[in-house]
Amino acid sequence: MSNSKAETLAQCVSRVSEQLEAADLFYGHGTDNPWDEAVYLVFTVLGVPFDADEAQMSHELSTTQSKRLDELLTRRIEERVPVAYLVQEAWFAGLPFKVDERVLIPRSPLAELIAQRFEPLLTEAPQRILDLCTGSGCIGIATALAFEQAQVDLADISSHALSLARENVERHALQARVQVIESDLFASLQGAYSLILCNPPYVSQSEIDDLPPEYAHEPVLGLYSDEEGLAIPLQILRQAADYLREDGVLIMEVGYSHEALSERLPDMPFLWLEFDNGGEGIFALTAQQLRDAKAMLAL
Ligand SMILES: C[S@@+](CC[C@H](N)C(=O)[O-])C[C@H]1O[C@@H](n2cnc3c(N)ncnc32)[C@H](O)[C@@H]1O
Repeated sequence: MSNSKAETLAQCVSRVSEQLEAADLFYGHGTDNPWDEAVYLVFTVLGVPFDADEAQMSHELSTTQSKRLDELLTRRIEERVPVAYLVQEAWFAGLPFKVDERVLIPRSPLAELIAQRFEPLLTEAPQRILDLCTGSGCIGIATALAFEQAQVDLADISSHALSLARENVERHALQARVQVIESDLFASLQGAYSLILCNPPYVSQSEIDDLPPEYAHEPVLGLYSDEEGLAIPLQILRQAADYLREDGVLIMEVGYSHEALSERLPDMPFLWLEFDNGGEGIFALTAQQLRDAKAMLAL
C-alpha cells in the first residue's frame, strides 16, 4: 500500500480515506465516515494534533511511519479491528482515554450531558457520583473533571476493564477523588450517591449475532445482557433506589433496547433525553420515582 515517493500528511489522509471507503467497513466506534476515520488513524499514529496547520499537512512521512500506517490500515480492513483499538486511544467528552480489547470503545451520548453538567436534571453539583459498568472509566472520569469537588466511584465486574480504568484515572491525575471498585452491579458498593451514571450491557444474543465484525473485537461482557437485553438494566432499576440519596438521580443508557424497556414497564415515568449530537435511549429517573416504582419493578 505504501508509495515509493514520500507522501505528505495531506496526501496520506486522502489515500487512507479512499482505501477505507473502498473496503466497505462499518463505522460506529468513534467516527461515522471514512474521512474522519482516516484523520483519526493517521494523525494519532503520527502524533499530529487534530488542529494541524498547513505546514504540518505538508510534512512528508518517513518510511517507518508509512510502514506502520500501512500495517494498521491492513488490520482495519482485513481483520475489521476498530481504529480505537489499533491506536489504543479514544476521545470521549473532549478527553483522551487509553483503550484496548479489555474495554468497550467509548461512544455513549452521555458525553453531551456531561458537557452540559447534567443541566437541568441536577439542582446542585453532585457530591458523590457512581459510574456503574465503567469499562474504560470514561463516563466517571469525564464527570469527575466536570465537578471538581465530587468523589467518584468507578465500578465494573471485570478486573481486566478495571485495570485499564485505573490507568485512565492516573492519566487524568484523579487518584485522590476517583476510586476503582470491582463489583457485580451494586454488590460491593456502599452508601448513597447523588448521581448514578450507567451504560450497562443491553444487547441480546440474537442482536450480537447480527452485529458487524468490528463488534467481535469488543468484550462480550460489555455488550451481552439476557432477557432480550433487559436483564441487567432491570436489575439496576430494581436496586438503584437503595444506593441514591433522597434527592439523587439515576441516568442510564439502554440504547436501542429503549422500546423493549418501555414496553416491559409501561407505567415507569422514564424521562427519555434528547441529544443535539445524535444518540437515543438514555433516561433519567429520580430516587423518589424509583422508590415509588418498587412494586412494579419487583415483577
Ligand atoms: C457497555 S460497557 C460500558 C463501558 C463504559 N461505561 C462506556 O460507556 O464506554 C458495559 C460494562 O459493564 C460491565 N459489566 C457487565 N456486567 C456487569 C455487572 N454484572 N456488574 C458490573 N459491571 C458489569 C462490563 O465489564 C463493561 O465494562
